[in-house]
Amino acid sequence: MMVTPKVRGFICTTAHPAGCRENVKEQIEYVKRQPKADGPKKVLVIGASTGYGLSSRIALAFSSGAATLGVLFEKPAAGSRTATAGWYNTAAFEEFAQKDGLYAKSVNGDAFSKEVKDQVIGLIKQDLGQVDMVVYSLAAPRRTDANGKVWSSVLKTTGASYTNKTIDLKTRAVSDVTIEPATEEEITATVKVMGGEDWKDWISALKAADVLAPNVVTVAYSYIGPALTHPMYLDGSIGMAKRHLAKTAKEITQEFPGVTGYISVNKALVTQSSAAIPIVPLYISLLYKVMKEKGLHEGCIEQMTRLFGEKLCNGSPQVDGEGMLRLDDWEMRDDVQREVSRLWETVATENVEQLADIDGYWEDFYRMFGFHLPGVDYDADVAVDVSIPSLA
Ligand code: NAI
Repeated sequence: MMVTPKVRGFICTTAHPAGCRENVKEQIEYVKRQPKADGPKKVLVIGASTGYGLSSRIALAFSSGAATLGVLFEKPAAGSRTATAGWYNTAAFEEFAQKDGLYAKSVNGDAFSKEVKDQVIGLIKQDLGQVDMVVYSLAAPRRTDANGKVWSSVLKTTGASYTNKTIDLKTRAVSDVTIEPATEEEITATVKVMGGEDWKDWISALKAADVLAPNVVTVAYSYIGPALTHPMYLDGSIGMAKRHLAKTAKEITQEFPGVTGYISVNKALVTQSSAAIPIVPLYISLLYKVMKEKGLHEGCIEQMTRLFGEKLCNGSPQVDGEGMLRLDDWEMRDDVQREVSRLWETVATENVEQLADIDGYWEDFYRMFGFHLPGVDYDADVAVDVSIPSLA
């Protein structure tokens, strides 16, 4: 069938198999053009199918030759409904990895569950023995805990309500939006979903099963951003979860001998998760404009190549005073932030096309679902029922 994008709010409900494959291929080719990294050789990536997790998996496999086991929560095609982008990405990743003689298997299921943890442990024991790196790159809207209770995360501010500019990406209109503060219950729930509890549960389960190599490293991703995003991010409900994640990194290092936990603070980028946060997409489109003009723009794959190639696996890890790896170093440069704040002050519906990179935002958005990739024939019929080799 012919697959076209169907955009609903923050997501696209269709994904193009050939486009997603091309997207993965482009990322692999980028990594292959970079110097090889002397990184880990057996890696578990939790949240491996899209965004930062997918790029982590690609960078580690094709730069340091790592065997990768990926955990994802994606849907296969059903009838005329396409699979999710992460499904197609994973099918393509495994195909390319196998071509290069790299081990790649995937587990599709709820990473928060004990069943998936047990399945992963079984696979590591059977195929890899132990892993020397665990990447935790989950971005989930909800979590069902061990008692069956469902926690839902919210994207709200905390304390008092907060008003600032936002953009309706569809109409390209800039307007004020007021974000209500999260309740205590909502904050608790957001921390349950996006904080470090499940990361620590994973490390605890892996350690108890003796599938962590000596001196294993585990890394989870966070965001800090400039003051103008703080009420929505760092001081918002998601920020409370990220603080918990940072605390967990320290606890993991202290409580599990031989395991070192890191937080990598990444750049703000268009992914399926960040598109849903109010205010942030306008900031991202101004940031893209400024960073592209300065020749500093990076996507997920450039960020993750730099993380493993320069910051984490190249000698001793380059951390800041808080022990965090800073991949947001270019985003947070004074000249970049000064320019973004200046644009933020003046941006309005009338000038947003000139000041912000809305087209760049949309390009990244469509690409995430396999659309707008050069070299893909979007008028051709494609089979949507693609299988992930290791799950077939
Ligand atoms: P994403 O939405 O592209 O990726 C999320 C991944 O988690 C996917 O592989 C998905 O299949 C998987 N997943 C979701 N729920 C799952 C579940 N219950 N079980 C198993 N897998 C599940 O998100 P993105 O943006 O790559 O986020 C990854 C991490 O990076 C998050 O911690 C996020 O906060 C962080 N981050 C994102 C930034 C951004 O601008 N996008 C900036 C800095 C950090």
